[in-house]
Amino acid sequence: MPHDTQHAETTHSAEDDPRNADIQIYVDGVLKHRDDAKVSVYDSGFMLGDGMWEGMRLYNGKWAFFDEHMDRLFDSCRAVSLDIGMDRAGVAEALRMTAAANGMTHDVHCRLMVTRGVKIHPFQHPKLSQSGPTMVIIMEHSKPVSTLQAKGIRLATVPQVRGLPMSQDAKYNSHSKLNCVIACLQAEQAGADEGLMLDPHGFVNTTNACNFFIVRKGQVWTSTGDYCMNGVTRQKVIDICKSEGIPVFERNFSLVDAYGADEAFLTGTFGAQTPVAEIDGRAIGTNGGRGPIFQRIRDAYAALVQANTQ
Ligand SMILES: Cc1ncc(COP(=O)(O)O)c(C=O)c1O
Repeated sequence: MPHDTQHAETTHSAEDDPRNADIQIYVDGVLKHRDDAKVSVYDSGFMLGDGMWEGMRLYNGKWAFFDEHMDRLFDSCRAVSLDIGMDRAGVAEALRMTAAANGMTHDVHCRLMVTRGVKIHPFQHPKLSQSGPTMVIIMEHSKPVSTLQAKGIRLATVPQVRGLPMSQDAKYNSHSKLNCVIACLQAEQAGADEGLMLDPHGFVNTTNACNFFIVRKGQVWTSTGDYCMNGVTRQKVIDICKSEGIPVFERNFSLVDAYGADEAFLTGTFGAQTPVAEIDGRAIGTNGGRGPIFQRIRDAYAALVQANTQ
C-alpha cells in the first residue's frame, strides 16, 4: 500500500507553535537558545544511547503526575547505576528554571534527559564517563493536533517484537529506542501511522510509542505489562477504570481479539488517549475506534490531570 502522506499524523503530532523557534534549553544548569544548545560528541547518550528520559506535561504551572515520573526516572537510573547527580527537588528546580526562562506555564511538553555523561574515549565502558551526568531539558509549547481525536490512528502489526526483560527491559525509558524506531519504520512502510508490537509469544503488547488498550463488550483489556513501558498514563487509565467500575483486565490477548474490538485506544503522556481507527487495514468498531468507554475514560483522565495540577 503506498504511504498516504495526507494522513501522516502520529500520536505525537503537535499543533505548530511559532514560539518554539526561540525556546531556551537547559543544558547542565545553563539555559541556551535552541540553536546553541549542544552536548559533546563524546556524550554517552549520543554515542551509545546510554541515558534515561521522561516526557511530562505542564498545566497551570504544575507538572502532571510529577511523583510518578520521578519514581520511574530514579528507579531506572538506579537500575543502571546512573547517578543523576541531584535529588527530586533538584530536578524540580531545574524544571522550574527552564519553564521560567521560557515564560511557560500551560500546555507545555517537556523531555527531560539524563545521560551517563561525557566519555574520555569513544568506547562503551561506563567507567569512561568521568565528569558526571549530562542533563538536558527541552520544553515546548505543545498541544496534540486537534484532528487526531476525530480521525484516529492507523496501526500496522510489525515484525519487530518487544523483547524479554533480560535483554533490554522495556521498562527502561532509555535514550536508545532503536527497537521502537525500527517498529515505527516498519509501520510507516506498511502505510500506517504507528506500529502495533507483539510480545515474544505473539500476544498483542503495545505500540512503538504508546500503550495499547481495547474494549470488548464493556470490558477494557490491556497487555499484562510484562513487555511494555510501564506508562504513567497506562496506570492512570487502569486506576480510572477501577474507580469508575469499568471492568479492566491486564491479560494476554491476540490479534483476533484486537481486530474484533468495539473500541481501541492508545495512551501516553503527550496525547493522553488517542483512538485507534484501524489495525492492519481493518476498521475498529463502528466509530473510528471511539465509543462510550473511551469517552468516559478520556473525560475522567482530563479531570484527574486537572485535579493534579491545580
Ligand atoms: C514505548 C513507550 N510506550 C509507552 C509510553 C507512554 O508512557 P507514559 O504514559 O508514561 O507517557 C512511552 C513514553 O515514553 C513509550 O516510550
